[in-house]
Amino acid sequence: AGVDVDALRDLARRLACEAGTLVREHRPERVVVAATKSSDVDPVTAMDRASEELLRARIAAERPDDAILGEEGDDVPGTSGLTWVLDPIDGTVNYLYGVASYAVSVAVVVGPPDPARWTALAGCVHSVVDDRTWTAARGRGAERDGRAVRVGAPADLATSLVGTGFGYAPERRAAQARVLTRVLPRVRDIRRLGAAAIDLCLVADGTLDLYYERGLNPWDLAAGGLVAAEAGAFVGGLRGAPAGAGMTVAGARPVVDDLVTLLEEADADAAEERFAH
Ligand code: IPD
Repeated sequence: AGVDVDALRDLARRLACEAGTLVREHRPERVVVAATKSSDVDPVTAMDRASEELLRARIAAERPDDAILGEEGDDVPGTSGLTWVLDPIDGTVNYLYGVASYAVSVAVVVGPPDPARWTALAGCVHSVVDDRTWTAARGRGAERDGRAVRVGAPADLATSLVGTGFGYAPERRAAQARVLTRVLPRVRDIRRLGAAAIDLCLVADGTLDLYYERGLNPWDLAAGGLVAAEAGAFVGGLRGAPAGAGMTVAGARPVVDDLVTLLEEADADAAEERFAH
């Protein structure tokens, strides 16, 4: 009660666009990996850190009572019950290589810091290179660059264009590759664009028909998931579970239900075996 979701959305947009300008204008000629995280192929650049520092400083100044959960830093506790969920660069590998698909993702949620249990209130995904901005506020719909967007209406799974993504750990990738062999023959085609937040927004505006990915982090999902849901998409997991670390599936009903069924049949959330080289 008393939460102004429109104001939160507008602030999320302002912050994501400001960080996006930093990321765009200061991308060095040669981007250098500053560290790796979950595996040797999971990079962090100095700009991931600089972008998140900017976002954190702005939130601390403007919303000092809110908590912060970010990809690149320690959790900041709060007293308001609201948490800002930050991905300073979603699509870091694209950023590293100069592939033009990466975004700043900023969301505000209420509840525990787990996508399966929180309620997203507002969010913004700012695609840096093409300067496109998707926003949503709970119950208020979703927009791209200020115009309302609506999920597409795919005819069936066989003619659907499906986005997906892969984690960084070899065990995860081996399992994801197995699932892909079940999905790819059944759909129009697959896109692996490299930024989960953008994938979810492309479902929201009907550019992609469907999207699925296992193992998303909270910051990959928070803003894009709300944008997709507010655009009319189903956003959930398998067997009635909420979207989150297990599986995230997004798209328009009823065709998204066929993808959920296919992923359930493929045991897409089964335990991962140890990866044998
Ligand atoms: C990654 C991207 C990628 C997805 C991975 C994410 P990052 O985020 O969103 O598309 O497949 O699961 O971890 O590391 O670039 O912020």
